[in-house]
Amino acid sequence: MPESASGSGQCKFWILHGLLAGAAVAAATVGFRLVARSNRARNRVVGIIPARFRSTRFEGKPLVEILGKPMIQRTWERAMLAATLDKVVIATDDEKIAECCLGFGADVVMTPESCRNGTERCNEALRKLKKKYDIVVNIQGDEPLIEPEIIDGVVKALQGAPDAVFSTAVTSLNPEDALDPNRVKCVVDKHGYAIYFSRGLVPFNKTGKVNPNFPYHLHLGIQSYDAKFLGIYPQLHPTPLQLEEDLEQLKVLENGYKMKVIKVDHEAHGVDVPSDIAKIEAFMRERNIS
Ligand SMILES: *[C@@H]1O[C@H](CO)[C@@H](O)[C@H](O)[C@H]1NC(C)=O
Ligand SMILES: *[C@@H]1O[C@H](CO)[C@@H](O)[C@H](O)[C@H]1NC(C)=O
Repeated sequence: MPESASGSGQCKFWILHGLLAGAAVAAATVGFRLVARSNRARNRVVGIIPARFRSTRFEGKPLVEILGKPMIQRTWERAMLAATLDKVVIATDDEKIAECCLGFGADVVMTPESCRNGTERCNEALRKLKKKYDIVVNIQGDEPLIEPEIIDGVVKALQGAPDAVFSTAVTSLNPEDALDPNRVKCVVDKHGYAIYFSRGLVPFNKTGKVNPNFPYHLHLGIQSYDAKFLGIYPQLHPTPLQLEEDLEQLKVLENGYKMKVIKVDHEAHGVDVPSDIAKIEAFMRERNIS
């Protein structure tokens, strides 16, 4: 039966292929689970602020001044107020940024320009630190008004959920922003674990309209990771939902990892484009924030 023999040969090939492809990830995953099961509390925490000079939308963004102080310094000062962080470092590929940060007293780690995103930069920075850490908080440099309490909140959420490798925060979604694909929505289960993230409106009401009574969640950029998981995360292959939504965090959920989500009260003031500077300065003047 040459046909069926070749057929089963083919089949074996595919199975083997699948096994091999999964093997590296599986090994990494098993390694991680062993660590997670040991009862060591994850109490050594480092906050890393990735700051790169080159940006397509806003060159040199970390150094831009907001009410007379560089944005990166404002983010760093907020991070320094977080009670859960044992250390705060700025990870950059740029000499000018490094010089500026050393000038106001920050710890700086140089990372390669080749880092493709903030997560990779955090991972590179983590490996260069002398001490070992259990949790890494990725603090976006373009959120100069981040509350230290939010940083502490995501850290405590991860410490309180040993089965999670990742934690992040959401806030109430403004109904006017509900259909904006740049505002990422998140749905969580009743224990506070993420079920899904979408650029579309989730959950979707059958009337086809935004339900003014539903508490939709807007995802905020802050993330914290189990340090072991951070070594795995950038290496995980892209996944279908991640690619379709263009949302990195879906890769975590699609691989079956758990993510803890906290709800916070936060008016997002991210700085993405130069015109955001005037807006945030106006807000700060209004609130007497210097
Ligand atoms: C949908 O939204 C409306 C309000 O717009 C609300 O009354 C209703 O309970 C929601 N859910 C369903 C299943 O219709
Ligand atoms: C960062 O870049 C790496 C390599 O391109 C990629 O695998 C990863 O999904 C990206 N994002 C995150 C959040 O790790």
